[in-house]
Amino acid sequence: MKGIILAGGNGTRLSPITPTTHKQLLPVYDKPMIYYPLSVLMLAGIRDILIISSPDALPVLRRLLGDGGDLGLRLSYAEQPVPRGDGDALIIGADYVGDDPVALILGDNIFDGAGLPLLLRQAAAGHPGCLLFGYQVPDPERFGVAEVDAGGRLISLEEKPRLPKSDLAATGLYFYDGEAVEIARDLKPSWRGELEITDVNRAYLEAGRARVVTLDRRSHAWFDAGTPDALLDAGRYVRLARQRHGRSVGCVEEVALRMGYIDAEWCQVLGERLGASAYGAHVRWVADEAAGAQIRRAG
Ligand code: TTP
Repeated sequence: MKGIILAGGNGTRLSPITPTTHKQLLPVYDKPMIYYPLSVLMLAGIRDILIISSPDALPVLRRLLGDGGDLGLRLSYAEQPVPRGDGDALIIGADYVGDDPVALILGDNIFDGAGLPLLLRQAAAGHPGCLLFGYQVPDPERFGVAEVDAGGRLISLEEKPRLPKSDLAATGLYFYDGEAVEIARDLKPSWRGELEITDVNRAYLEAGRARVVTLDRRSHAWFDAGTPDALLDAGRYVRLARQRHGRSVGCVEEVALRMGYIDAEWCQVLGERLGASAYGAHVRWVADEAAGAQIRRAG
């Protein structure tokens, strides 16, 4: 399975921070925002990932993440010359994806939760159609709202409805079978002139081939970190997880180690490179712990 992170956009809701700074490079507590969606794809077991962004931001993202080899990944990059909608990701990524199944994640989406790695691995294990991730919210009228039957099948999808049919917000994480690119090629631009990923999801819905994984609010967190409040809330959440539970949400080196993409020795090297930061200390700590476990196993 391939992965795409869509990490361009206008970021108007963060103006005047953007556009002089790029949204997906903003810090969410102790790491750039893009680490979070990247770690989600990595947890799903996806190692071939295309990062799509604006011509300005792309060189900086490339400098930050390189070819992904350090993390045991194969990262590729593609430009979106102007923000033409989230559905455009499948058009820009068409050659990259080919007929493969693909997971698309929006670059400002942050997920966390104890059960998430398993749900992601199951999603990536392959299934016909498309799989959305729905998150229970108290104010569904602000989101795309998914209505789901008892078996998890998507039965309606409405953008910011006045009278929501459920409390499930459609998050920015989508798993598709090999037909998504073909469907995207048939998309008509919206009145704003944008290609909408919602229309791809609707095509699957109309074919009866769309399902939803519900992320329970009591055990999962989801942020669309595209507003000042959400950015701050996400940062506070990550800080609390780190300081109270010793967990580093979105730590790509740790995920690479736990997924077996890199070994403890290499993780230690990456940690050394990170220098004196608390993030670096965490990476060195997980490397030490894994190396200790290896020695205990050998002994
Ligand atoms: P949005 O938050 O919907 O759009 P935006 O980032 O332009 O921000 P705003 O609404 O404040 O103007 O986009 C969600 C994610 O998708 C975000 O990470 C940016 C990315 N994106 C693109 O890369 N290209 C696009 O054409 C669009 C619409 C979004």
